[in-house]
Amino acid sequence: MLRLGMFAAFLMSVGVVWGQMPDRTPNTRYPYVTDMDHEGAYVLRWGLNATHIWFEVQVKTLGYVGFGISRDGRMVPADVIIGWVAGNQVHFQDYHTERYEAPTVDSSQDWLVDYGYEEAGWTVLGFTRALDTCDTLGDFKITRDTQRLIYAYHTEDPDVTSPNPLIRHTVRGRKSVSLMTTSHPPAELPIDSSVIDFTNDNFSIPVANTSTYNCRLFDLSDVNVKYHIIKMSPVFSPGMEQYVDHMVLYRCRIADPASLLVNGASFNCFSDAPDHVQFCREHVASFGHRNKEDFYLPEDVGIPIGGTGESNLYVLATHYVNELQTPNLVDSSGIQLTYTADLRTNDAAFLSMGNIISPNWLQYIPPGEPSFQQRAYCSERCIQWGMNSTQNALPMTVVGAKFHSHDLATEMKLRHVTKTSSGAYVENPWLAYDGAFDSDQQAFRVAEKRRNVSFTDHLMLECTYDSSTRGFPTLGGWHPDNELCRAYVLYYPRKMLEGCMSWSNYDQLRNQIGQPVNGSDVFNTLLATDWSNNNVMRVNLKHALQNSIENAQCWSSRQDPSYAVDWFQQTDITIQTPYQPTETRTCV
Ligand SMILES: *[C@@H]1O[C@H](CO)[C@@H](O)[C@H](O)[C@H]1NC(C)=O
Ligand SMILES: *[C@@H]1O[C@H](CO)[C@@H](O)[C@H](O)[C@H]1NC(C)=O
Ligand SMILES: *[C@@H]1O[C@H](CO)[C@@H](O)[C@H](O)[C@H]1NC(C)=O
Ligand SMILES: *[C@@H]1O[C@H](CO)[C@@H](O)[C@H](O)[C@H]1NC(C)=O
Ligand SMILES: *[C@@H]1O[C@H](CO)[C@@H](O)[C@H](O)[C@H]1NC(C)=O
Ligand SMILES: *[C@@H]1O[C@H](CO)[C@@H](O)[C@H](O)[C@H]1NC(C)=O
Repeated sequence: MLRLGMFAAFLMSVGVVWGQMPDRTPNTRYPYVTDMDHEGAYVLRWGLNATHIWFEVQVKTLGYVGFGISRDGRMVPADVIIGWVAGNQVHFQDYHTERYEAPTVDSSQDWLVDYGYEEAGWTVLGFTRALDTCDTLGDFKITRDTQRLIYAYHTEDPDVTSPNPLIRHTVRGRKSVSLMTTSHPPAELPIDSSVIDFTNDNFSIPVANTSTYNCRLFDLSDVNVKYHIIKMSPVFSPGMEQYVDHMVLYRCRIADPASLLVNGASFNCFSDAPDHVQFCREHVASFGHRNKEDFYLPEDVGIPIGGTGESNLYVLATHYVNELQTPNLVDSSGIQLTYTADLRTNDAAFLSMGNIISPNWLQYIPPGEPSFQQRAYCSERCIQWGMNSTQNALPMTVVGAKFHSHDLATEMKLRHVTKTSSGAYVENPWLAYDGAFDSDQQAFRVAEKRRNVSFTDHLMLECTYDSSTRGFPTLGGWHPDNELCRAYVLYYPRKMLEGCMSWSNYDQLRNQIGQPVNGSDVFNTLLATDWSNNNVMRVNLKHALQNSIENAQCWSSRQDPSYAVDWFQQTDITIQTPYQPTETRTCV
């Protein structure tokens, strides 16, 4: 229960120039901003340093406002604050939830209010806390993992005379945000900055299929000057956000697109793509309705666009999901790139990594597994092949990465392995890691420290899935019910290498599966397995997947589309010294 006497309160400061509400403009104090809801009624801004994080919430209510960090997105257990402005006073306290009733006031008050005011129907609260408050009873530590943020608000302030002032119907919701890895906007964009839109053209979303992949072509052959992409943003047609599952912009170079393809042409990406489009696979940008924050490249990094010999064909692939088969939906959503002629120091690019899932769904997750691992490799030979350019001698400096997976993924890890002169494999610190992955939040993760990958290294992507609540096997695939294990790694200087994927050779697992296999198709045997009573098969599959022969494929589409293939046994690159992160706590 609330105890009135404990409210932290202070007077509204005077002389502040109130802005227009809501104010989503990043500024020095609050470089990061996100909408917590779909209605734009709850804006969160934040900033941080090595030890502290400070938030501002702007909420369309004159009532009370709640905000916090939940363990798994639910209201309990969670580390929360509640605040409101009444008269000239700001009321604010640090709580935690123990059960589905009024939260409990923390005995240690570690979230501290900086200011609060009401303006034009909005309540604004600013508050600060340590990343690690050391209050293990009331607070959660804020880490580089994806955090499950929760929020609530009410039209009125609590009736503090009531015995249970906070138990009332409120608007509430959740959003996953990675508070410590979000891209930082520059102090200001260069004055010559311009934008280019890659959008759909009044595409009629089909009702016959709930899931549609539409592709649209853009010919940039006449852009003869080299620019740098410095910012990427999604563009949503009004009201269409909920139907746009995600959008990806790919590109490649082909000699004379105009002779082969029609600029602006639109077609089904899977069934109707012209031959040349299949090879347009360099990842440039991606967004979805759950991942719609602007992405800013770091201030010394730009992705080249335009100029002699540069990629000239761009493909926007949009995945529409129309579950309710709503008719008459017309969409022109897409991706906007901001570019400048004021070139930055480093030419960067995305490297796509992961597990190949077509044509035979070469990924298989049995049901009932709380922690099932799938690995994908970018092999040493692929890296060597892809680095065979004029900048051969330079390593790849990794700036950060974006992970992509569906609902079962819980943990994503991009591992980096170096071969020592004695031939041993040593693991470096992870290039990217999310110990609390949420497929609803697939934003770019800026690396804590940049790291170099040399052409004698291996990269390994490790995806962990929780299939414990699924009664059926999950196969690799693009559909939301399937799974993926993907990473898009941003690095410089740009190399020929654009994609570097692998798949476990199930056929070669035949003798390790511990069960007679009909014919040579182990994958079909997996499909036919009854997992409710086959523990031997489970153990053997996991063992086999850790020791399999891996097929690797890497490609480039910027010069003439070209490929390299590779294969190796996973046991050939056994890591002698796995990387162990050390947890640093600032308290005892
Ligand atoms: C980090 O921010 C906190 C809270 O504003 C402040 O007390 C602390 O001095 C800052 N630390 C550094 C190194 O700037
Ligand atoms: C889409 O259709 C509307 C109305 O017919 C039209 O005004 C608009 O220009 C079209 N958009 C595009 C991108 O062609
Ligand atoms: C629906 O999707 C299937 C499989 O992708 C495809 O074969 C079929 O042509 C689609 N139907 C329509 C009406 O688009
Ligand atoms: C590397 O580049 C050189 C010169 O372009 C070429 O002769 C050689 O075949 C390339 N090696 C590989 C592995 O692609
Ligand atoms: C990566 O390699 C480049 C080129 O050799 C070097 O200048 C840079 O300092 C290295 N960066 C890191 C983080 O090791
Ligand atoms: C094995 O394959 C043969 C031929 O395809 C089929 O007739 C038989 O039913 C299969 N046996 C099992 C156990 O799946």
